[in-house]
Amino acid sequence: MSTYLVTGGAGFIGSHLCDRLLAEGKQVVAVDSLSVGRIANLAEARGYGQQFTFYTMDVRAEGIRTIFERHQPEVVMHLAAQISVPRSVAEPQFDASVNVLGLLNVLDAAVAVGTRKVVFAASAALYGEPRTFPVKETSRKGSHPASPYGISKKVAEDYLHFYRRARKLDYAALALANVYGPRQDTIGEAGVIAAFISKMLAGESPTIYGTGEQTRDFVFVDDAVHAFAVAASRAPGAFLNIGTGIQNDVSTVFKLLAKFTGFKGEPIYGPPRAGDLVRHYLDVELAAKELGWEPWTSLEEGLKVTVDSFRTG
Ligand SMILES: NC(=O)c1ccc[n+]([C@@H]2O[C@H](COP(=O)([O-])OP(=O)(O)OC[C@H]3O[C@@H](n4cnc5c(N)ncnc54)[C@H](O)[C@@H]3O)[C@@H](O)[C@H]2O)c1
Repeated sequence: MSTYLVTGGAGFIGSHLCDRLLAEGKQVVAVDSLSVGRIANLAEARGYGQQFTFYTMDVRAEGIRTIFERHQPEVVMHLAAQISVPRSVAEPQFDASVNVLGLLNVLDAAVAVGTRKVVFAASAALYGEPRTFPVKETSRKGSHPASPYGISKKVAEDYLHFYRRARKLDYAALALANVYGPRQDTIGEAGVIAAFISKMLAGESPTIYGTGEQTRDFVFVDDAVHAFAVAASRAPGAFLNIGTGIQNDVSTVFKLLAKFTGFKGEPIYGPPRAGDLVRHYLDVELAAKELGWEPWTSLEEGLKVTVDSFRTG
């Protein structure tokens, strides 16, 4: 049985990825510092018994090498990251220590045990302020990310490229749009959905920063996870956008969530947040071609499932 190692495995996307890989019959080893992630996210994974192993460990730690030696992963899904954009702005060194040095520690361990491939969670944040829409992968050339978080996600591709050429470690980098779904925290890039739902279910008015007309590309977590699973065996050395190719504005998201939660109030409007883009959505045709992947969950469907999970969870 082939072993997949998932860093950030107790996080939002990582825990869904563990569930998916376990359901496919893979042996899964998850590593997470639990700085943000939660053991509770692994309830389903733990039900797989010996097929699943979890380590509480920082990706920057020396012990990562021991875990790789013990489990000899064929594929590594690298999702562990410092994901807060504001924190990266306040503490660029901390961001780089986790997102750059942590990545290198994982890559070195992967090379040492002959891992075949790393699938890396990049981010649409690396595009900075795009000039043309939908944003194509080619836009990353010469882009200037607006935050150290975006910079760390951008520079990662050059490291992955170097390790592929010089150390024979294959990779696929997936530039994720705004991923949402069950288990999401409010701090991430699509945290707006989790934040709105939490407020609405508590009967409180969520805050919309700016006019609400700003658009994003919201992709459901199951669709994003599917792309990771497929990328393990396709698209060598590829950089691919993972989103829906559709832009939705924040007011539309508010209205749909109000419908699904039964919230009757009005939003509070706050000043636009520094660096917030007016619109953003990704061109996902390359992923369709390289991975045979397409997002299949509509925004309505995905939001409904997410609201139901927040209600019961
Ligand atoms: N959610 C999104 O919309 C989105 C968009 C673009 C990219 N991404 C990327 O996808 C990946 C997963 O994001 P997520 O939304 O699931 O966030 P998350 O915070 O839920 O998951 C990240 C996990 O990494 C863990 N972690 C943080 N620092 C660590 C360290 N030093 N060592 C080990 N583990 C550590 C956290 O505890 C957390 O469980 C991240 O790399 C993120 O940058 C997410």
